[in-house]
Amino acid sequence: MKILETNRLTLRHFLPDDLDALFALYSDPQVRHYFPEGTLTYAETKEELEWFLNGHPRHPELGLWATIYKENNQFIGRCGLLPWTIDGQFEVEVAYMLAKEYWGQGLGVEAAQGVLAYGFDTLGLTRLICLIDRDNAASINVAQKIGMTFEKEGRDEQGPFLLYSRHKLTHP
Ligand SMILES: CC(C)(COP(=O)(O)OP(=O)(O)OC[C@H]1O[C@@H](n2cnc3c(N)ncnc32)[C@H](O)[C@@H]1OP(=O)(O)O)[C@@H](O)C(=O)NCCC(=O)NCCS
Repeated sequence: MKILETNRLTLRHFLPDDLDALFALYSDPQVRHYFPEGTLTYAETKEELEWFLNGHPRHPELGLWATIYKENNQFIGRCGLLPWTIDGQFEVEVAYMLAKEYWGQGLGVEAAQGVLAYGFDTLGLTRLICLIDRDNAASINVAQKIGMTFEKEGRDEQGPFLLYSRHKLTHP
């Protein structure tokens, strides 16, 4: 099922057939560089895919979605909205990850912008965040380009992170 579309991308629910393409993404050390758990095995990728096939199990309107490059109909990443509890507060993160062959063409910002607009306009969320490793310059750039600003540093069992946030702009 399609979630959203941007100029060059379609984001849709995952399908069981996406496993090999998702594994290609998750087994790439460069793509997974800033993820504390590192690359994933085929079995771990399968487990995550099953977890997200129909949206997030506890918040089905959220989740990670297959990101398809319209021009060639290829799976090029996974982006979406993820729920967290941080400092006792419910938060929704704009998450983005693309295959490295597609980096540097503005697709990260395009995907993140589409996800942000979906969160605010379709789901009616009023605040979105990004959780980013302090050395992940590309991700910080993407967050800033979709209007997020640095709010605070945090730490969880996986290590430290920067929290960027943006509230929905409301018109008087
Ligand atoms: C983060 C990611 C999605 C960015 O994708 P992308 O398509 O290359 O991003 P864009 O082309 O839209 O670039 C966004 C901005 O970041 C800049 N940028 C991209 N890569 C960069 C890098 N390695 N270092 C510094 N800036 C970088 C771009 O120059 C651009 O800014 P500009 O328009 O002023 O030039 C991609 O690098 C990725 O998938 N990384 C691995 C997964 C990951 O770390 N996800 C984020 C977890 S918090």
